[in-house]
Amino acid sequence: MIKLNSKFVLTKQINDAKIKTLYQTKVNAILKTIKTKKALGLNFTGWIDYPNKVTKTQLQKIVSATNKIKNKKIKYLVVIGIGGSYLGLKACLDMTNAYKNSNLSVIFIHNIHQNYLLEMLRKVKNDKYGIVVISKSGRTLEPALAFDMFYQNLVQKFGKKTADKLIIAVTSQHAGDLRETAIKNKWQTFFIPDNIGGRYSALTPVGLITMAFCGLDLNKLFSGAKDATKKLKNASLLQNDAYRYACYRHYFFKTKKMDIENIVVYDPYLQSITKTMQQLFAESEGKQGQGLYPASCLFTTDLHSLGQYLQQGKKCFFETSLFVKKTHADCQLKIKDPVIKYLNKFKLSKVNEIAFLSTIKAHTYDGKINNLIIEIDKQDAYHFGYLYTWLMYTAMMSAYLLKVNPFDQPGVEAYKKRMNDVLKK
Ligand code: PA5
Repeated sequence: MIKLNSKFVLTKQINDAKIKTLYQTKVNAILKTIKTKKALGLNFTGWIDYPNKVTKTQLQKIVSATNKIKNKKIKYLVVIGIGGSYLGLKACLDMTNAYKNSNLSVIFIHNIHQNYLLEMLRKVKNDKYGIVVISKSGRTLEPALAFDMFYQNLVQKFGKKTADKLIIAVTSQHAGDLRETAIKNKWQTFFIPDNIGGRYSALTPVGLITMAFCGLDLNKLFSGAKDATKKLKNASLLQNDAYRYACYRHYFFKTKKMDIENIVVYDPYLQSITKTMQQLFAESEGKQGQGLYPASCLFTTDLHSLGQYLQQGKKCFFETSLFVKKTHADCQLKIKDPVIKYLNKFKLSKVNEIAFLSTIKAHTYDGKINNLIIEIDKQDAYHFGYLYTWLMYTAMMSAYLLKVNPFDQPGVEAYKKRMNDVLKK
């Protein structure tokens, strides 16, 4: 389960009951516009029903497609995609530590800087590898360029016939260059539903293919997504934590004039969830001069750098911390160093929990920072499905509260247009 804990907001200003008083009518009105098909961007709300529509046969098809490639004894899986075509997927694999059950090394290619791209290519080029190339539009430059280089290398090394059997393409069913090329070369191809946009698509083949490669339990993933969908049907702000989170975000932005939400994790493996939240929130809300800037920090690491600003600098932000109750790993401390031997009464998880609570208290009580906590019971497939669904609901409601379309991202086109104009000349 996922819960929003607001015990550490500065309660003289705001609390759950006040949020309900301020926002319940607004939220009900928004939900009515969705129901009566008057809300903005409704042709991209396919993700809402998707967990209940996906069939066992579809999931089996995905698993057997990945098995066909795994049986070819690949050493690496190269996953090529950018934005919504990799962030949610990576967040899932990192959070669940899915890599541990798999002999495969998964390499994400989400950047085309020469230092990075050429190094990744050098790393895999003498071995057999599979490629999952993901692009909904099928015409994004970065994945197209990267894919070409990795594909060419496979063709040179193993011949076209073998190379073509090592590829899975994930793209739109109806348009795009990737779709055309995939059909022409007879690659295994999976389609992203038209009514699901990039950042809302991690539970479609966009994420499912690589999750299946890593042996993640897709049934558990969808069980979490379905439970969240069911729970979030309840519009009451005291029951619906995802919408309540959206309302707190709106309150801090509009009423308290804060421009930044600082999203905090304590586990390096959760950093990719903060990236997913950044994309969901920034692309859904950052329009028409509005929206919180979603910043992120890894504590306790960043407490030794950004921590100073957060504690005593300008209070232009509030914080949202993600806290997992039952982590993958733990140990009883058996320290030999006499200086810190007093720690031996603790498990390592307890030291981190104390660091977390001490930081929250220092920030709230001494620093006067409003703190929200997203409590996550466990780090498994079920909880990723639940959390990702929960966050999509928050992103949608946050955007609707600002009266902007949660499902488009027109601003992303500006750099693409200039870059393509110059490159094509
Ligand atoms: O949320 C979105 O739609 C975007 O971030 C896209 O995912 C990103 O731009 C990649 O697009 P595509 O999958 O078409 O290559």
